[in-house]
Amino acid sequence: MNQPLTTSSTDNPLQATSIPLLAVQNLQKRYKTRQGTLTAFDGIDLQVQTGEVVCLLGASGCGKSSLLATIAGLQSADRGEVYLQGRSVRQSQPQVGVVFQDPCLLPWLTVAQNIAFGLKLKHMPSLTRPELRSRIAAAIDQVGLQGFEQSYPHQLSGGMAQRAALARTLARRPQLLLLDEPFSALDAITRLDMQTLLLRIIAQQQTTVLMVTHDIDEALLLGDRVVLMARHPGRIYQEWQITQPKPRLAHSLTETRCAILDALSTVMTLPT
Ligand SMILES: Nc1ncnc2c1ncn2[C@@H]1O[C@H](COP(=O)(O)OP(=O)(O)OP(=O)(O)O)[C@@H](O)[C@H]1O
Ligand SMILES: [Mg+2]
Repeated sequence: MNQPLTTSSTDNPLQATSIPLLAVQNLQKRYKTRQGTLTAFDGIDLQVQTGEVVCLLGASGCGKSSLLATIAGLQSADRGEVYLQGRSVRQSQPQVGVVFQDPCLLPWLTVAQNIAFGLKLKHMPSLTRPELRSRIAAAIDQVGLQGFEQSYPHQLSGGMAQRAALARTLARRPQLLLLDEPFSALDAITRLDMQTLLLRIIAQQQTTVLMVTHDIDEALLLGDRVVLMARHPGRIYQEWQITQPKPRLAHSLTETRCAILDALSTVMTLPT
């Protein structure tokens, strides 16, 4: 859809013919601040189908991280619903994995122990020791960190630490991956490397991804759909379906890139 969205579908996801993996309905998040109440986002309607990769773009402060944290159940919504496969959820779910810009590894644990830690969280199903070991080994393999299982976070480069964080999440075998600018702290080459890694994982596992990024090219390389948010309050403004097969070359999507840049400059000047 290339027209700005002023309203979105409010269909009950339970009535849809194929139930989306994720459906967000009329979601709102407000924060109490010293200055009063701040509405981070409002009226968000979003559906993500199984296997789809949706990239969320928008100016700083438009509520992208708040939206992801609310979908992940890390904070409560003030209005609206989050559905996972048609089931309303309000707390963290084992089938949802989150990776942030900061790898958030525990410094006193090795890479393998950090991954194990993620598998032993309270809401995770309990695993036998062999299951735990095989999940850790598979996740290490997926992100190419073989040989660094016993390394501590301070012994890793930024890219390796982010791989370890991704492995910790992948080991939990989430159906939905929520990524909040996972590569934005990395240098350009490591970033390309991580984008390729993510593309491979997505293709191998048919992973469903909702990813926040500031980088239009990253969104165009990875996304099946790019969703642009406007701010004050955060809301969905426009979205683009990217049908070109992957792997893609960013320069082959120049027209869409220009359209996104145009829309981005429009949302920056919208009255609040
Ligand atoms: N815990 C909080 N308490 C109060 N206000 C908050 C809190 N978290 C976020 N905000 C405010 O909500 C708005 C949206 O913030 P959010 O971090 O979601 O934006 P963002 O789109 O992720 O920005 P960026 O691109 O810079 O990461 C901002 O105005 C921010 O100041
Ligand atoms: Mg953010």
